[in-house]
Amino acid sequence: MTETFRLKNEEDTMALGRSIAEKLRAGDVLALRGDLGTGKTFLTRAIAQGLGVPSRISSPTFTIVQEHEGGRLPLYHFDVYRVSDEDELFEIGFYEYFKKGGVCVIEWADLIEDMLPEGTVFIDLARGEEENERICTVTW
Ligand SMILES: Nc1ncnc2c1ncn2[C@@H]1O[C@H](COP(=O)(O)OP(=O)(O)OP(=O)(O)O)[C@@H](O)[C@H]1O
Ligand SMILES: [Mg+2]
Repeated sequence: MTETFRLKNEEDTMALGRSIAEKLRAGDVLALRGDLGTGKTFLTRAIAQGLGVPSRISSPTFTIVQEHEGGRLPLYHFDVYRVSDEDELFEIGFYEYFKKGGVCVIEWADLIEDMLPEGTVFIDLARGEEENERICTVTW
C-alpha cells in the first residue's frame, strides 16, 4: 500500500512522523530515500519524538549508526551516505539490528537497497513547489 502526503511545512512533517511512530512495531525497518535536505533527518526526529525517545537525533557524519533507547521501542538510526561497501555494514553488525527488537530508520537507503530485509517500509521524500513543501510517499 502506497500513501502520498503533501507536507506544506515542518509541522506537517512532524505530524506525519508521529503518526508513523504510532504504527511501528519491533523489527520494523524504514528505508528513507530522498535528495540532500529533503528532510530525512527531520522526519527521523519526528518519528523519535513519536516513540518518546529522550535523546537528540543528530545528523551523523562519520557514525553509521546511533542507538537511542528510552522510548516505546529502541530506535536505531542509520545514515549510510558514506558506506562504500558491504564490509562496512558487516563491521557494525548491520544485519543484527533487524533482530534486536527495535526500529531501524535508514537514511540514504537507496544506496544499500539490496541489503534491506523483506518487509522494509520505503519512505520517499522530495521537494514540492514551495520552499518548505515536501512530497512524501510511504509504501508499507
Ligand atoms: N516540510 C518540511 N519537512 C522537513 N524539513 C523541512 C520542511 N520544510 C523545511 N524543512 C527543512 O529542510 C531541512 C531538512 O534537512 P534534513 O537534515 O532533515 O535533510 P536530510 O534529507 O536528512 O539531508 P541529508 O541528505 O543531508 O542527510 C531542515 O533544515 C528543515 O528545517
Ligand atoms: Mg540527514
